[in-house]
Amino acid sequence: MRQVVFAANWKMHLGPEEARAYLKTFFERSRLPDGRLPEGCEVWFFPPAVSLEAVAQALVGRSGFLAGAQNVYWEPKGAFTGEISAPLAAAAGARAVLVGHSERRHRFGEIDADTERKLSAVLEAQLLPLLCVGETLAEREAGNTLDVVTRQLEAALGRRPPAALQQVTVAYEPVWAIGTGRNATPRDAAEVHRAIRRWLAEHGAKSSRILYGGSVSLKNAAELLAERELDGVLVGGASLDPATWGELVRSTAA
Ligand code: 13P
Repeated sequence: MRQVVFAANWKMHLGPEEARAYLKTFFERSRLPDGRLPEGCEVWFFPPAVSLEAVAQALVGRSGFLAGAQNVYWEPKGAFTGEISAPLAAAAGARAVLVGHSERRHRFGEIDADTERKLSAVLEAQLLPLLCVGETLAEREAGNTLDVVTRQLEAALGRRPPAALQQVTVAYEPVWAIGTGRNATPRDAAEVHRAIRRWLAEHGAKSSRILYGGSVSLKNAAELLAERELDGVLVGGASLDPATWGELVRSTAA
């Protein structure tokens, strides 16, 4: 049976109170029978760190749901003002962590070597990494998409044994499609997903999941997910309204 992940990246939105209210509305309005997800479907929430505990607590006992952190620093503890570590995220209830999101790479100057260290820290804390990769518009137009994505995979994952790689989910998020209203076509996304899948298989991970992200909305989610190369979606803007997100999950999960 096909497994599909619906991942919501709230970015810098929704404090603890708002997060609790969001989840209440989500469960009321998503019309999931008994609040349960269809078989084979998972919903992951990536709230800002201050709301992680509220979200994790609201999801306790709900199968198929998990809370994750948007970012962690690679050291487990110490004098790193403003950062959170993977063990701290886990203590707040996180079970997954985004690594190398394009906003981390392009707005905060995160380099490939940082994603490698962060990914190690996430695995060390027994959390599930969701590694984000993707090219800029200039890189796509220069025909370098697969080179860039492969370089990002090599840097973060290239030296890991297959057992560790199996824990990793990859999200292909072309930078030019994030927050722009311009999504990749299912065909374009599938081409890159195939290359990522091949790379993972060559490194011993045959069953890793690959999500697509970048301007996914209620309008285009079904068309994108009809492409079997996509094991799910990672959604920013369209995940911020609980009713819209509930509808997106309910209408495309079936
Ligand atoms: P949008 O869905 O707002 O384009 O954001 C995508 C994203 O960055 C998810 O991580």
